[in-house]
Amino acid sequence: MENFTFYAPTLFAFGDGEEKNTGALVRRFGGTKVLLVFGGGSVKKSGAYDAVTASLEQAGLPFVELSGIQPNPRSGKVYEGISLARAEQVDFLLALGGGSVIDTAKAIAMGVPYEGDFWDLFTGVAPIRDPLPLGTVLTISAAGSEGSGNCVITKEEGNLKWGSPKSDDLRPRFSVLNPRFTCTLPPYQTACGAVDMLAHICERYFSNTPDVALTDRLCEALMKTIIEAAPRALEHPADYAARADLMWAGMLAHNNSCGVGRRQDWASHQIGHELSAFYDCAHGASLAVVLPAWMSYVMPTNPARFARFAVEVFGCEMDPLNVERTAKEGIKRLKSFFRILGMPVTLGELGAKTEDVPNLVIHRAEKGFPFGSFLEIGPAQMVDILLLAEE
Ligand code: NZQ
Ligand code: ZN
Repeated sequence: MENFTFYAPTLFAFGDGEEKNTGALVRRFGGTKVLLVFGGGSVKKSGAYDAVTASLEQAGLPFVELSGIQPNPRSGKVYEGISLARAEQVDFLLALGGGSVIDTAKAIAMGVPYEGDFWDLFTGVAPIRDPLPLGTVLTISAAGSEGSGNCVITKEEGNLKWGSPKSDDLRPRFSVLNPRFTCTLPPYQTACGAVDMLAHICERYFSNTPDVALTDRLCEALMKTIIEAAPRALEHPADYAARADLMWAGMLAHNNSCGVGRRQDWASHQIGHELSAFYDCAHGASLAVVLPAWMSYVMPTNPARFARFAVEVFGCEMDPLNVERTAKEGIKRLKSFFRILGMPVTLGELGAKTEDVPNLVIHRAEKGFPFGSFLEIGPAQMVDILLLAEE
């Protein structure tokens, strides 16, 4: 295990009805005027908006609203939010929604105290300093932004879908996690969320760092739980137990509890972001296509790790005479699982075109090569992985 620091100072209020404490939590973390950020109609339909605004009112907290955040959130809403937050002199951001809403709120939080273009903080021109404090009320189990220290925004000029640098100051002060809110999710979004969580664990699990037995087992327990709970949630959308497991798993998958002390990969996410930038597809759907292809591509560099995945996560039988066969079986089972969830698993099913592959790679060059650590990925490797996703 490598040395690490782990600082994750988010308070989690978990369970049915916990959103009633939102106003008190904002007060506890020093907020006196709130910018409430949310997406389209789902929070109004589910009752989450009414419950949260009632709680703010009960705590005597004035608030202004920024709504209409779209999936794969764009920079335009960030600029709008920064102006609004400054004009209204808010001192706390409250995100009500999923990764797209939370990430927009995080980008606003870091942009308000910075005089220049907030995108400078993404490119590294300036460091992230003293972001406004932020809380979340989560409505979809997926991205893990409720516990993570970064955000992902698409800069409209240049269509760049980039993650921000990591900063523990960007971790929410609190996150309210009521699994009941996720019962209104359409099946497609439930499935996308499960894929994203699994991908967050795989990006950490497939590591060449030795002696990480504890985090290996944490990763395996989380993956098994998600693989068991997601089909239940799809079959019975109101299954509270399944929704609760998914919600906490999504947080643990990405607050880095499972990633400490080991080199992490993140190549599948980098490639997935290009697909989302080009085709505006859901983040989880892009990963359902990329992750199995990435696995097939890198597996020969360490078949034993993939064989362990097959045995521990999918219960495959180890073939000691042919470890690669076992490794391949695990990848096949993951891809079949994505299909069972109703996810696309090929470029075509995602609505992507093979002839676009060179352009995807050229576009990625703006952020730079290589990426990934299990195996370093340069332009040629990215092409090969995407072509493996053809079928
Ligand atoms: O806009 P509304 O009407 O709210 O609908 C949303 C949206 O269309 C809907 N939804 C959310 N909760 C619902 C609901 N519909 C019915 N009932 C509910 N309870 O779901 C749709 C997707 O929402 P979104 O926020 O986009 O989903 P997700 O949480 O998957 O977030 C994806 C974004 O997060 C980024 C992704 O790249 C993507 O942009 N990520 C952020 C990370 C981070 N900050 O740590 C890490 C991830 O790897 C990821 O990259
Ligand atoms: Zn993700």
